[in-house]
Amino acid sequence: MVNEQIEDYVFHRDFSKTYPIITHGKGIYLYDENGKRYMDACSGAVAANLGHGVEEIAEAMAFQAKKAAFVHTMRFETEVLFQLAEKIAKLAPQSLKKVYFTCGGSEANESAIKLARQYHKNAGRNDKHIVIGRWQSYHGNTFGSLSAGGDIKRRQTYTPNLLNFNHVHSPNCARCPYQREKEDCEYKQNWSCVRDFESVITEIGPDNISAFIAEPIVGSQLGAVSPPEVYFKEIRKICDKYNIVLIVDEVMTGFGRTGKDFGIQHFGIVPDIITFGKGVSAGYAPLAGMIVHDRIVDSLIENSKGKFVHGFTYSGHPVSVAAGLSALTIYEREGILKNVQVVGDYLKQQLFALKKRCPIIFDVRGEGLLLGIELAIDGERGTPFPEEFHASERINSIAMDLGAVFYPGSGSINGYLGDHLLISPPLTVTTGEIDEMVSILENSLKIYFEELKEEETYEITK
Ligand SMILES: Cc1ncc(COP(=O)(O)O)c(C=O)c1O
Repeated sequence: MVNEQIEDYVFHRDFSKTYPIITHGKGIYLYDENGKRYMDACSGAVAANLGHGVEEIAEAMAFQAKKAAFVHTMRFETEVLFQLAEKIAKLAPQSLKKVYFTCGGSEANESAIKLARQYHKNAGRNDKHIVIGRWQSYHGNTFGSLSAGGDIKRRQTYTPNLLNFNHVHSPNCARCPYQREKEDCEYKQNWSCVRDFESVITEIGPDNISAFIAEPIVGSQLGAVSPPEVYFKEIRKICDKYNIVLIVDEVMTGFGRTGKDFGIQHFGIVPDIITFGKGVSAGYAPLAGMIVHDRIVDSLIENSKGKFVHGFTYSGHPVSVAAGLSALTIYEREGILKNVQVVGDYLKQQLFALKKRCPIIFDVRGEGLLLGIELAIDGERGTPFPEEFHASERINSIAMDLGAVFYPGSGSINGYLGDHLLISPPLTVTTGEIDEMVSILENSLKIYFEELKEEETYEITK
């Protein structure tokens, strides 16, 4: 507690836990009320992409707050709104030219799902309403985005409330959900993950399907897994064939995180809608949104008198937008993308080297500074930890004791089994800081390994 005179009225994220109280941050470090330092090796939730304590962004927000803190976008717009939209659109793939703002990534995906529906409805395709998402993906916690996502544990409690959306597997060649070998798929040019997508479409009936939503590189649910190179090209063709809106969720991957402005640029296709969040304001203010293809915008103008039947009070909030404009200016001026490429390669090499020294790492993966390690009780064979070990959570809590915070996740194999850690520091990180980070990670894994050896269950499970 910061001050014992303050009573606790906080609805905590988890009432069984006590959280360190952070007083300030600088660069990639956070400091708590006792002066303990935490290296932020996951940018909070892959959001604080420029690190902490960036005065330039704070000043840009204060400047805007003093000028006009809030205007309602049903009545007014602001100059910063135009400036930020221009910057974002110019980073996006061709033809994605209009930017819609929300506060968070869940709202961004809700907006994209609704826009896809309105797009079809306006053109007389009345039955098109179902969204196809993927298992082991995450698109947010509101009902629409949760229904589109495929995180089994997060969905469980709310299953009766969820929308009737369909799911296919996310490709994960290291642990193919279709039990195929990547070489075999490549050799035969026959990808089960792609075929399954088309089968599900024909099963539900293409006339009922409005959109397909996917993360270009799966973040929190799979721990930075990229699809095979051909995947999105094939998906694009199928979406075109059946008039399905392709929504690419770049809430985690956007704005340089993977070494390109947007993650989908690794795969050479143009989606119909990109959703974004987190890194757009480098976490300094709630800001997210979507970038929409001209074709959809033109149809809205033609068929709905220009009106999207949707909106939030805080869409395009001037102070958040000012934070975004300032963050994007810094990304560009400081050559952040180059740093991601160089330091990201360095981190990946260090993680591969660590894998050789550490018996409980099964896989190292990801792009740029969105990297993941998959943990296994037997790193060589990939035997997963039993779910009840909560291995990734435990390792992260050891790391926090040692002064670094990672992003733990579980369920990457089948929704329940499969532990991983995301390693996604601020994009400003240096190679020196990476050395410190990998050293804390290695020590945490060693301590956990020692704990395991003391557990009777270790031998039995292995
Ligand atoms: C890929 C992806 N989409 C959507 C979201 C939801 O964003 P928010 O928590 O800002 O609503 C997240 C959050 O982690 C995410 O990683």
